[in-house]
Amino acid sequence: MSDAGKKAAAKRAMDYVEDGMIVGVGTGSTVAFFIDALAEQKHRIEGAVSSSERSTAALKAAGIPVFDLNHTGDLALYVDGADECDAHKRLIKGGGAALTREKIIAAASKKFVCVVDPSKLVSVLGKFPLPIEVVPMARSYVGRQLVKLGGQPAWREGVTTDNGNWVLDVHNLQIVDPVGLETELNQISGVVTVGLFARRPADVVIVGDQKVF
Ligand code: A5P
Repeated sequence: MSDAGKKAAAKRAMDYVEDGMIVGVGTGSTVAFFIDALAEQKHRIEGAVSSSERSTAALKAAGIPVFDLNHTGDLALYVDGADECDAHKRLIKGGGAALTREKIIAAASKKFVCVVDPSKLVSVLGKFPLPIEVVPMARSYVGRQLVKLGGQPAWREGVTTDNGNWVLDVHNLQIVDPVGLETELNQISGVVTVGLFARRPADVVIVGDQKVF
């Protein structure tokens, strides 16, 4: 992981920010650099929709108005990081436990620009344990279903999401069919959000100061 790569990608994401926009803003250390860059040009935008309490605090501290997604309608642009990214722009997200709001904003945005450093690129998703947000009372039940699917779930103990839920990190999943697995995991009762972004992948991936695809 390189801070220089994260910063370079975040800065290049400013190329997609247009005057008067309400920008969807993700969560994480890469996005923190994007918020810094956005703050420098805050006079150009109307404001932001935030994917976490953490990003909301950073946006407000930077003087950027934060809007409720219920009041904005769909967004033209969403910028967020990822924990892993494959060649088809499918992602694993949720390392920062913000996956549910991130997935909602991604769904509600016309263009999802993903900012990563080169270490996030993989040929097959799944080395990074797959985060799954669950309703607390379903933690153990969901865990047993994940074991049946061949995964090894670990409870991220001590972490409560912004939505009051818990997170399981699933190790050793063979993610050869990301869309199929996302669909299957979404069917388990008690699952709130799966950190696989395959049904709604990124539209553009910016890799450090290197390629854009
Ligand atoms: C937050 O829940 C995640 O989805 C982040 O987008 C992801 O973990 C990337 O974070 P970094 O930019 O800190 O690597």
